[in-house]
Amino acid sequence: MPKTALITGASSGIGLELAHIFAREGHNLLISARRKERLAELKKELEEKHKITVHIFSTDLANRESPEKLFAFCKENSLSIDFLVNNAGVGDYGLFHESDWKRQEAIIDLNIKSLTHLTHLFLPSMVQKEQACIMNVASTAAFQPGPLMSNYYASKHYVLAFSEAIANELNGTGVTVTTLCPGPTESEFQEHSNMEKSKLFDRFPVATSKDVAEYGYKAMMKGKRVAVYGVPNKLASKLSPLFPRRFVTAVVRKIQERK
Ligand SMILES: NC(=O)c1ccc[n+]([C@@H]2O[C@H](COP(=O)([O-])OP(=O)(O)OC[C@H]3O[C@@H](n4cnc5c(N)ncnc54)[C@H](OP(=O)(O)O)[C@@H]3O)[C@@H](O)[C@H]2O)c1
Repeated sequence: MPKTALITGASSGIGLELAHIFAREGHNLLISARRKERLAELKKELEEKHKITVHIFSTDLANRESPEKLFAFCKENSLSIDFLVNNAGVGDYGLFHESDWKRQEAIIDLNIKSLTHLTHLFLPSMVQKEQACIMNVASTAAFQPGPLMSNYYASKHYVLAFSEAIANELNGTGVTVTTLCPGPTESEFQEHSNMEKSKLFDRFPVATSKDVAEYGYKAMMKGKRVAVYGVPNKLASKLSPLFPRRFVTAVVRKIQERK
């Protein structure tokens, strides 16, 4: 019986690569993002190449009603979700007090609210299944405060803490929750998060979205709780809690400074 994966943020970057992997593995897909044409192109490509069924649902997930609309779409189309991949996310580079509130609000609405709401909507049917998986995409930003991207880093702390907690609550059910924590990754994220001015991507090895997605898929299939991509990122995530937070915060500020 083919399984179905819901992937948010499938129009570019890590989400797009995850869609290719799930399709290659023979799973049907429900892909979501705002850019409908990209989703339509991807649907055509994946259906032809892998003989699977791909549904698309184009929406702005930062809108309050979108998660319920997406859930209703699944009901109308009798789609039962086996893999929920909450990947869509955005950041905003710069000083918080100089930033645009609409962009800050979108970070909270997308990275935190929609991820939590979708999880709340889909989990009850997932726990009825013998096996189901959630992948929530956080970041290495989840492990320390992030001056110049304060709200984004904090939103990823939330994703990590929320996901680890529900993973524990789901012990004894067939549902696993994996938090994928990529470090700097080649995608449209830099452009969409105004990060061209940050030194971060010059200072760390930058992974491809494909490698991160392959790693995340494997980790999810193994039921791994927290999956940090790459050795330098793993090391940094283990080391940063050992230092005083004020010091770590100052180091992140240095790394994030303008070019
Ligand atoms: N790239 C990195 O360095 C990096 C590092 C750590 C973690 N991450 C995380 O990885 C995840 C994927 O990011 P990425 O690197 O692949 O960046 P990306 O190429 O910018 O992809 C982001 C995806 O989210 C979708 N999206 C953005 N805003 C949305 C909204 N309001 N409603 C619905 N969909 C929306 C975008 O599609 P539309 O524009 O078509 O809506 C796109 O498909 C994010 O959660 C990000 O925080 C990225």
